[in-house]
Amino acid sequence: MHAQFERYRAMVEAALPLALPKDGGWAEVITDAARYSLLAGGKRLRPCLVLAAAERVGTDLRDSPSALREALPAACAMEMIHTYSLIHDDLPAMDNDTLRRGRPTNHVVYGEAMAILAGDALLTHAFAHMARAAQANPEHALRHLRAIGRVAEAAGLTGMVAGQALDVLCEKQGADPARREEQLHFIHKNKTAAMIRGALLAGAEIGGASERELTALSRYGAALGLAFQVADDILDATSTTEEMGKTVGKDEKEGKLTYVALYGVDGARQRLDSLTEEAVREVQPVDADGFFSDLARDFAARKH
Ligand code: IPE
Ligand code: IPE
Ligand code: MG
Ligand code: MG
Ligand code: MG
Repeated sequence: MHAQFERYRAMVEAALPLALPKDGGWAEVITDAARYSLLAGGKRLRPCLVLAAAERVGTDLRDSPSALREALPAACAMEMIHTYSLIHDDLPAMDNDTLRRGRPTNHVVYGEAMAILAGDALLTHAFAHMARAAQANPEHALRHLRAIGRVAEAAGLTGMVAGQALDVLCEKQGADPARREEQLHFIHKNKTAAMIRGALLAGAEIGGASERELTALSRYGAALGLAFQVADDILDATSTTEEMGKTVGKDEKEGKLTYVALYGVDGARQRLDSLTEEAVREVQPVDADGFFSDLARDFAARKH
């Protein structure tokens, strides 16, 4: 992976343990449960995108250490929300998975009630964390407020939650045969691409991006996010549980509406390539050092 990506990831790994309260008092178990999933590793793509965008846009913070410092709380917040989405995605009522990030899933260790609450806690704490960053940087309070809005839009009814809802509906009730492609697009665009695009836009807002930069990152994020989920669908069909740290082969078994289900592995690979090229094309206006293009290509070739 790109050296810059490793640099961002190291910052995120150092900041995450400090971003959540340690002491839960009488309800210690819920802080433990939240920390268990948040600090279990993972690729940390979304927080790294927040930092990368913040560092590459605007004029006053560009290339300065303060861009990263200011954006780090939003980066951690995105990872909290992403982790919450994984904890809930794995619940028996949803994908019913027992392995995540190479460990037993949250509900297997802490029980369903605590897993639901751990997700709730991560989601709400993410917003507390970003609000604190806005207060700590009053000269940029409006930028932070815009970033908070971007994150909320990406996570909720206009993003991840809506995608997860249709994902579950299509699995339980079956997709509409005449509109399967449209439904698949809605699922991927919302359940996965929205958070990836949202991470870029949140970082860009904190960095003081221009409209032109926001547009380029928005298009890049939409294509990269779709590519990311197509790759996830391919890996579910072709990789191993050891490599992925989560149980593979379940999409087909559960009758999930995926790219592989609709177009086969080869068709999905073609779609992955064309989305990656689209991402690379769209990001050119904000990609002077080639970081975003390299990242799209690296993630298209990912093995886990
Ligand atoms: C998994 O996300 C859920 C999808 C959107 C496919 P990641 O593949 O980013 O999972 P981690 O964070 O690396 O565990
Ligand atoms: C989930 O998609 C995307 C989320 C919003 C969590 P999947 O259900 O395919 O993710 P995995 O394969 O369990 O990580
Ligand atoms: Mg799912
Ligand atoms: Mg799942
Ligand atoms: Mg999957």
